[in-house]
Amino acid sequence: MTTRIEKSANSEPASRELFESERSFRLLVEGVVDYAIFMLDPNGIIANWNAGAQRIKGYAADEVIGQHFSIFYPPEDRAVGLPAQALETARREGKFSAQCARMRKDGGRFFASVVIDPLYEEGSLVGFASITRDITERETAQNALQQSERDFRLLVSNVTDYALYMLDPEGRVSSWNAGGERIKGYTASEIIGQNFSRFYTEPDRAAGRPARALRIAREAGRYEEEGWRVRKDGSFFWASVIIDPIRGDDGELVGYAKITRDITERRETQAALERVQRQLAESQKMDALGQLTGGIAHDFNNLLMVVSGHILTLKKLVAGDQRGTRAALAIEHAAERGATLTAQLLTFSRRQQLDPRPIDLRAQIDSIHEVLISGLGNIELRIDIAPDLWPVTVDVGEFEIALVNLTINARDAMPRGGVITISAKNSALGEGAVVEAGDYVEITIQDTGVGIPDDILARVFDPFFTTKPIGKGTGLGLSQVHGFVHQAGGTVKIASTLGSGTILTIYLPRATAQTIAAAKTRTEPGGNGTVLLVEDNPDVASASVGLLEQLGYSVRWALDAETALREIDDNGIDLVFSDIVMPGRIDGLALARVIRQKHPLLPILLTTGYSEARRNARADFPILRKPYRVHELSQALAELTQEAADQESADRGLATSPQGGAPRGTFTPARDE
Ligand SMILES: Nc1ncnc2c1ncn2[C@@H]1O[C@H](COP(=O)(O)OP(=O)(O)OP(=O)(O)O)[C@@H](O)[C@H]1O
Ligand SMILES: [Mg+2]
Repeated sequence: MTTRIEKSANSEPASRELFESERSFRLLVEGVVDYAIFMLDPNGIIANWNAGAQRIKGYAADEVIGQHFSIFYPPEDRAVGLPAQALETARREGKFSAQCARMRKDGGRFFASVVIDPLYEEGSLVGFASITRDITERETAQNALQQSERDFRLLVSNVTDYALYMLDPEGRVSSWNAGGERIKGYTASEIIGQNFSRFYTEPDRAAGRPARALRIAREAGRYEEEGWRVRKDGSFFWASVIIDPIRGDDGELVGYAKITRDITERRETQAALERVQRQLAESQKMDALGQLTGGIAHDFNNLLMVVSGHILTLKKLVAGDQRGTRAALAIEHAAERGATLTAQLLTFSRRQQLDPRPIDLRAQIDSIHEVLISGLGNIELRIDIAPDLWPVTVDVGEFEIALVNLTINARDAMPRGGVITISAKNSALGEGAVVEAGDYVEITIQDTGVGIPDDILARVFDPFFTTKPIGKGTGLGLSQVHGFVHQAGGTVKIASTLGSGTILTIYLPRATAQTIAAAKTRTEPGGNGTVLLVEDNPDVASASVGLLEQLGYSVRWALDAETALREIDDNGIDLVFSDIVMPGRIDGLALARVIRQKHPLLPILLTTGYSEARRNARADFPILRKPYRVHELSQALAELTQEAADQESADRGLATSPQGGAPRGTFTPARDE
């Protein structure tokens, strides 16, 4: 704009009007505070000054009028002659306008928007009008905005933990970041322009999930889900996905912002945690059940001892009487069945005293092959044992019971025939497996039967859990397997598919040189001499007396420890056979220790149904588990006398041990129990 002040031919009222208008115009200009408005003469000398100029530049009118306007320029601009150039430009081009730095009176700088117009009067230049505005704030804000946009772009494009990208309204990828590339495997040039549905799995795509996600985002303002997504290389990852619609100022949809995170690891950790929690709950349940069944089994044992102990006497009494003999046999059979049951219960509660020996699984399985196939009918049994199988140390009896039960379970699951496969192979398990890492022999029993529904699968190891009709199953088979395998330091798991069969897998730890050495060979039975029986329960005692006499021993019976000690002093005793758990001041273990001190050469055999008591005494004395059968008692006593004889001859050879000398074995003082 060029301001021209035209001289007019004055008439009175006209000049008055003009005067009024000029006055108000001057007032307006002087009063404006947002703009510095002032005039320069043709040389750039300041001619007048308004309120805005004073506010913005800091000079009062009288300080500045008469000075050259170059004082507002920073020294470096002054040095290169910018002030003169500005006036020159205004003159030449009719206007000078710029956004540049200016100085205040106090030396501070501000960013200014400057316009300089030349003023002409009757065709000749009379000066310049300068209008300056302080736009520092606007400039700062704009800079900040630009910077933040730059930062944001940088941030988004460099974030690698999240795929952050935009979709156009049709779902085509319109921007891409480093996270997108890292997580999904596509570079920006490969993916931009492609529809985002390619990140979905085939079934999800077929089900129209990508379009559905956009629709929900559009309608609800946001879409969020977790699900499987596909990488460029075809692998899957578990993704957490958020889609936000982006709308323009007019509300028109311009696209979608999409955030995808790969949470496969988190999901796996979560799953692992849940698995551990489930296992923990499972083992707690098993422990609690074990406590209960163990307690019951122990008491039941004592009852059985009484029954089976008297059977022999009974049989003798009824010899010749057919009905009597049949009854005695029925009682014997029931007692044996009862003993098996309690043994299973004890095994489940891991209180069974096991007799682990190194075994060759192939030979072991061969040896019971006949038993296994008997009763299988039209079911085929396949055995598949890997060569060079590591040895394991297990209780042979328990192992056989387990295998027979598992085969019967498999058979029962295949009423219309099928195949049972028993296989064994070596298996080095790493961390995170079902058992502690290490070497195991893995034995699987697989059938092609009906399978087990999930709700039942969780309960099959529980004692007395059975789905079989009354009289067919007691529900202790798998409990025995569970207990025996865990007691052997292994574990067992079961997997089943309805309609196609069940696989039961047993892991038994590989035997070490130590465990093999520990399993020693046993001597064969045979016995004579006087046994001192220490037993507080008269019924159990009389049953035991029967068994001992049957084996050829003479028996003296003591009700408690005090009587027992007196017996040993008064009568010639060759062997002591004592219950561990007894009421009174001295229990069986303490009694054994006293005897050992006084009569170090007197063989002592302890017995109990409690594994706790067994553990405490194990290091010092041999222990026979209750209920015992006659051959077990016979073998234990025979071994004891054999050992005593060996010891005696060794002692004689050395000729150093006076009566009451050094005791055999380690000697630990009785604990307060
Ligand atoms: N191979 C299998 N296929 C299908 N179901 C099975 C299989 N093995 C076990 N089960 C289920 O688990 C339950 C418990 O098995 P378990 O061996 O503990 O007891 P049982 O066979 O019922 O009785 P027991 O073995 O004491 O005679 C069975 O009743 C059956 O429901
Ligand atoms: Mg069974």
